[in-house]
Amino acid sequence: MTPPATATPPRPADSDVRAIDSDVRSAVEARPADAKPRPAAPEFDRPAAPESDRRAAPDPARPVETEFVRPAAPRPARRGGLAQRLLGTKVADVLAGPHDVDHYLELLRPDWAVRKIRGEIVDVRHQNADSVTLTLRPTGTWPGFRAGQHVEIAVDVDGVRHRRCYSPSASAHPKSRNIELTVRRHPEGVVSRYLKEHAKVGMFVGLSVPQGEEFVLPETRPRRIVLISGGSGITPVLSMLRTLTDEGHRGEIVFLHYARSAADLLYAGDLHRIATRHPNVQLLRCFTRGDDGELTGRFGLDHLRRALPHDEDAAAFVCGPGGLVEAVRGLWAEEGLRTPLRFEHFAPPVLPDLDPDQLGTVTFTGSGVTAEADGSTLLEQAEQAGLSPTHGCRMGICLTCKCTLQDGKVRDTLNGEIHGTPGEEIRICVSAPVGDVALDL
Ligand SMILES: Cc1cc2nc3c(=O)[nH]c(=O)nc-3n(C[C@H](O)[C@H](O)[C@H](O)COP(=O)(O)OP(=O)(O)OC[C@H]3O[C@@H](n4cnc5c(N)ncnc54)[C@H](O)[C@@H]3O)c2cc1C
Ligand code: FES
Repeated sequence: MTPPATATPPRPADSDVRAIDSDVRSAVEARPADAKPRPAAPEFDRPAAPESDRRAAPDPARPVETEFVRPAAPRPARRGGLAQRLLGTKVADVLAGPHDVDHYLELLRPDWAVRKIRGEIVDVRHQNADSVTLTLRPTGTWPGFRAGQHVEIAVDVDGVRHRRCYSPSASAHPKSRNIELTVRRHPEGVVSRYLKEHAKVGMFVGLSVPQGEEFVLPETRPRRIVLISGGSGITPVLSMLRTLTDEGHRGEIVFLHYARSAADLLYAGDLHRIATRHPNVQLLRCFTRGDDGELTGRFGLDHLRRALPHDEDAAAFVCGPGGLVEAVRGLWAEEGLRTPLRFEHFAPPVLPDLDPDQLGTVTFTGSGVTAEADGSTLLEQAEQAGLSPTHGCRMGICLTCKCTLQDGKVRDTLNGEIHGTPGEEIRICVSAPVGDVALDL
């Protein structure tokens, strides 16, 4: 059966863009004369690459299993008012010097920007002891997102800027343009711990353009959609669920979610409300340490049969801990399912350690530092050696950490492949040295 076509998600109207010209006028008038400039919000040092550039980049971390998504039509450029367009030019940056226009706008009001994207935290909610849900009001430069995409956020922790990826969990058809992120705290994690403990209303964070073109809802919605998640992996698939229900999707949607217990279940109330209001949504909650969900135990053939009784006209998405994602992928392959399965990891898979004979010396030629390789990635080794390479996702997605390999070979920690030719650009967050290596860093 041909899947029903659904309308392309509406883009925010131009009127939504807080055009700088009218904003500046009214805000300057409204601004008290003694108002102090607010502290600068962290932002991306390099202006975000045009979406088209980022999307063209290959993403070996998440190979496409089956091509069923029509490439999204490029978003129309957002125009804004005349002053916004003029301020957004390179010429304006040169005239404004030594910093770009956004730097000065930010000193006036952090919620103004002509090119960079920032978000103001307007709500902080602690759903449970391990997570925090943030609602961000983005600057008018935010282009909107597709359900399933992620965004890099930049925060300063103890004077050091860190960037991490988070997947918006709200519908891509938002009534407001706000972005909702749910962050699970990792006990040793720098950014997740900081956000859990210190995020508060009025704080600003830097934002990238939304990223990721594979783990997104196909624009032509399939008849049956299976969304599988575990823990904080719920965020991108919840965005898909909310987007589908917002647009009145009538096809069958199965939402299979794994949590340790009912108390750990994120968005419990929202999921219950959605399933109650939409008879086409089947909620399957599975608690690995309790039997008060619709399913018990771990993902296996019985869970698969409940989630996907008919292997036709369907699409499936899985996001969560590595063990869950690999179990789903394994069973999919074993059963020879034709339903396309897309998956997203929040952390890179762990490969077996290298043979000690394959370890050598790493030379960071730009800084004149050397280190004995210990099997970890070049990014980790550089950090251990006191360097601070620019990086974002730490799992091969954003390409922020690319450096030139000058000599030696590296192992791709995502797939184990060994490669390396002098002059090759490598992602140091997912490259471990094999033997002696020289890197332009
Ligand atoms: C595409 C994408 C989307 C993401 N979306 C979300 C989201 O919606 N919500 C969310 O909570 N997280 C999400 N993440 C994970 C997030 O980017 C961070 O990795 C996570 O918050 C930990 O960052 P940190 O600074 O606290 O930890 P770090 O300081 O970077 O790391 C500390 C320790 O924790 C380990 N670690 C780091 N990340 C993980 C992880 N995800 N799982 C297990 N161990 C880890 C590291 O190996 C290290 O030992 C996403 C990641 C990607 C790549
Ligand atoms: S930090 Fe994102 S690709 Fe390396």
